[in-house]
Amino acid sequence: MRKKIVAGNWKMNTLPAEGVELAKSVVAGRGEVCSCVNFIVCPPFTHISEVVKALEGSDIAVGAQDCATEAKGAYTGEVAAQMIAALGCKYVILGHSERRQYYGETSETLNKKMAQAYANGLTPIYCVGENLDEREAGEHFNVVKAQIEEVVYNLTEEQFANLVIAYEPVWAIGTGKTATAEQAQEIHAYIRKVLADKFGAAAEECAILYGGSCKPSNAAEIFAKEDVDGGLIGGAALKAEDFLAIGKGF
Ligand code: PGA
Repeated sequence: MRKKIVAGNWKMNTLPAEGVELAKSVVAGRGEVCSCVNFIVCPPFTHISEVVKALEGSDIAVGAQDCATEAKGAYTGEVAAQMIAALGCKYVILGHSERRQYYGETSETLNKKMAQAYANGLTPIYCVGENLDEREAGEHFNVVKAQIEEVVYNLTEEQFANLVIAYEPVWAIGTGKTATAEQAQEIHAYIRKVLADKFGAAAEECAILYGGSCKPSNAAEIFAKEDVDGGLIGGAALKAEDFLAIGKGF
């Protein structure tokens, strides 16, 4: 059985005290959602520690939104996977389209970040997805295939068994436009096929999340699709009520 996952990507939002409040509100309402749903929250680095404390005793996991390409040393401003793991994170989002677009992340950087994540026991949530021009040109399948081949294909079988993929069409992120459930299923099934071409039956066990304007009103329809195993949630993860309601979409 594949894991059902609802992960909140807080991006560069909330001050520490607000993040702690948000985390506590998620804990308070967690009991209303099926225990079969695995919740993850990914706060900014600055309040990971306090959020981990606020979640103590709950089954909600914490992830970071990025990690450095190197293990440690003279890399001003960077945050190492080892540091993130030491704070209590279990996950790290890698290759988010905002990082690819605004910070020039390439497959080359992402291969290094993935290696750091695994070396420190973190599960990567590896993001793939096409932009609007690519979708309109019918290139979306090729784009996600390349993003997978150039990075995920370098993993060992053991590493692959500990990977989450997030499909996030760039045109749907923060825009209010959501892929239809059919569009999501079509490309999720394709992603699973690309994974199976390399990893065989293990691809059946890999959770593939949908991201991009996922909200309480559309989550159930999208999550009902066979190859959609949950969501990576941006805006709607900043309100505990909405984040939990998305979890009820299963
Ligand atoms: P959104 O962001 O839900 O605000 O569209 C999703 C994401 O970028 O992870």
